[in-house]
Amino acid sequence: MAFSPEDLKSGSVFLNEQDELTILDQTQLPNRREYLVLRTREEIYDAIKRLAVRGAPAIGICAGYAMYVLAAEKEGMSPGEFVSAVKEDGAYINSSRPTAVNLSWAVRRQLGVIESDARRAPAEQIRLLKEEALAIHREDIEMCSRISEYGLSLIKDGDGILTHCNAGPLATSKYGTAIGPMLLGKERGMEFHVFADETRPLLQGARLTSYELTQAGVDVTLICDNMASMVMKNGWVQACFVGCDRIAANGDFANKIGTSGVAILAKHYGIPFYTLGPASTIDMECPTGADIHIELRDPDEVKTMWYREPMALKETKCYNPSFDVTDHELLTAIVTDRGIVYPPFDVNLAKLFS
Ligand code: MRU
Repeated sequence: MAFSPEDLKSGSVFLNEQDELTILDQTQLPNRREYLVLRTREEIYDAIKRLAVRGAPAIGICAGYAMYVLAAEKEGMSPGEFVSAVKEDGAYINSSRPTAVNLSWAVRRQLGVIESDARRAPAEQIRLLKEEALAIHREDIEMCSRISEYGLSLIKDGDGILTHCNAGPLATSKYGTAIGPMLLGKERGMEFHVFADETRPLLQGARLTSYELTQAGVDVTLICDNMASMVMKNGWVQACFVGCDRIAANGDFANKIGTSGVAILAKHYGIPFYTLGPASTIDMECPTGADIHIELRDPDEVKTMWYREPMALKETKCYNPSFDVTDHELLTAIVTDRGIVYPPFDVNLAKLFS
């Protein structure tokens, strides 16, 4: 499962042959594979906001490239003007979605590059930003590979795995996080039965996870979110694997809305519950889940977006949080690229960064 330079030219986010930021529009899947070239910062902001590019690591990769392509237009500026303009782009891109820490992480990482010597000529800064963006992408591929290996060590041939939302290659780079172990296992001749929650309201499980797994030849059964209890009770689930958007220092973590309910069910049925994510998703500056900013989204995603006609009256109130926080006490372990972290999470996550 080696990294290949070709991996940087495919997937859901990459630089095309003309060095332009290109994304696979995830809102069009599974019916159409449409690529979009994002040229302005408004286009980039909009693509992240409306989930054309989504999934915490993919947003981070996109932000890394965004900082480069936007900076590349500023070559004629003085070093001082260049640094302020790039910082402004960073703040703007960073405001597109608040919960996934990978976005601010990637922006900060790029700002660190230009601030390490703010007097450099813009042409040199631009070259370094491109190198760093490619490094963020390459590292994500490597991290996903390691996460997939660690995750695979927790399951055995024939297991039933339940997943929520989409944490596969589309949401990351190669392999993904939460569904990486099943993709890797499949390559090695293992068989799993994956239950993919459809993931209301934006249907990432139906549109993306079941698509990716089907394409890879992994046995996948799509269920509505409210069917998870039934399949667990039937004894069909031996482990739950989910992604994460931000892991707090005590192990609480934000992931797609509905994840905490799955964790509560798993505890009830005695099923191990894991979140899988790269070190870039762990936010040691965020003490607990209560400190995670949860994005609220447009009620129309619940009331109208997926239907031929509205399914609620215009005046019906609607609450549409994009994520929820799963309490660390419900977690069996956190699977990272640096190893599997078991409780006590506050102590063991700190060790990971020491
Ligand atoms: O709103 P989304 O689709 O960006 O939410 C994505 C998730 O919750 C994923 O599980 C998470 O980002 C991890 S992706 C490896």
